[in-house]
Amino acid sequence: MAHDEREQYLIRYAGDFAPFVVAKAEGSWVHTTDGQRILDFTSGQISSTLGHNHPRVVEAVQRSLRDVIHLNSWMVNEDVLGLAERLARLLPEPLVRSMLLNVGSETNEVAIRLAKSYTGRFEMVGLTRSFHGLLAGTNSLTFSMGHSGYGPLVPGSFAIPAPHQYRCPIRHCLNACDTVCLDVGFETVDQASVGSLAAMMVEPVLSTGGIIPLPDGYLQAAKTKCDERGMLLIVDEAQTGFGRVGSMFAFEQDGVVPDILTVSKTLGGGVPLGATITSAEIEDRAHANGFLHLTTHVSDPMPAAAGLAVLDVIEEEGLVERAKAMGEYLFDQLHTMQETHEEVGDVRGRGLLVGIELVTDRDSKTPATALGAAVTAECLALGLSMNIVKGDGRTSNCLRMAPPLSVTHDEVDLAVEILDRALTNCKAAVESGS
Ligand SMILES: Cc1ncc(COP(=O)(O)O)c(C=O)c1O
Repeated sequence: MAHDEREQYLIRYAGDFAPFVVAKAEGSWVHTTDGQRILDFTSGQISSTLGHNHPRVVEAVQRSLRDVIHLNSWMVNEDVLGLAERLARLLPEPLVRSMLLNVGSETNEVAIRLAKSYTGRFEMVGLTRSFHGLLAGTNSLTFSMGHSGYGPLVPGSFAIPAPHQYRCPIRHCLNACDTVCLDVGFETVDQASVGSLAAMMVEPVLSTGGIIPLPDGYLQAAKTKCDERGMLLIVDEAQTGFGRVGSMFAFEQDGVVPDILTVSKTLGGGVPLGATITSAEIEDRAHANGFLHLTTHVSDPMPAAAGLAVLDVIEEEGLVERAKAMGEYLFDQLHTMQETHEEVGDVRGRGLLVGIELVTDRDSKTPATALGAAVTAECLALGLSMNIVKGDGRTSNCLRMAPPLSVTHDEVDLAVEILDRALTNCKAAVESGS
């Protein structure tokens, strides 16, 4: 399909489409209709953690296509029950009850509704630079983008400063967060609140907001703030769940069990599957209060079958340990590359969720926005796909690498080599004014 046909028939939902059409995707690679082979360091939309079209996911979907694809929302099959039970066994007490959905924003909408239903309150707290989705409730807790031009947020939506060791939001500390921003944030919320605080929602690594891992102790301190106010803590592991950060779930690294956990992208292996998971106590009370949330594809068998296959493969192929080891390898390669590029201001992240923030120089930390855009385009032209996100919270200057957990050493080497070349080419172009 020609470029102009896309613009004729598709709504441009987030700027321009990539400058090619895809024929096929397999493992860490995407193949285009004009014969290019592109190393996909975005895992699709951070979802194909087993690599594209993993044969076990394909097999599970094929089985489901034969047996049952979709059901009435009140009927469940064995795969749905099996996946819910498997999640309960994977997660610590008391996270035992799941609702199986499709996309991340839905899982977070359900988490918000559960928190409201359980507490009988409506106010929600999120972090600046967060991304939880662009549906009405989640967009009101997404502070990295998507507000301007879309009218009022849901009443009772509050933002507190996202902790960021490279760029402290309250200009207070440097390279080591002492969580004073959390204290200041909650003091502000307490004064703005009408006394109806229901929950706080956080990502363990703010990904779209600039690959910002919550500093040590932050999630624990946030849980205490919530407990003190009778609020629930909702942890959104859309990107971090199921191995990406080198543990099965990111919250395990923080020693905190959330009241409600949401998972999505990484659970389906590329198939739309997400889950909102909570305790029996919360679910029982919400149910008694008449909790209602329905979608057409809730508890659908086909994505559940894919989810079971994903969990099997993660276990059998040791992908959690692999993500940890390959993440360390990727960090080492990037740190070596950083030595030759002053513009690589910061390399950060956890496991295989890595941010490379580009600055004009390391002292001023001025975002190198034009360079970021040029490097992203040059990498794609050289055969490496990466996203660019907002490093300084305003402009896009942070490259994001999130390859499949099955990525090989050779693929990491190739990605870093392409990035190195792209940086060199683009700096030369910027310096010569071309
Ligand atoms: C942390 C997080 N939560 C929620 C979402 C929304 O998920 P979806 O786009 O599947 O609705 C995203 C999407 O990027 C995300 O990164």
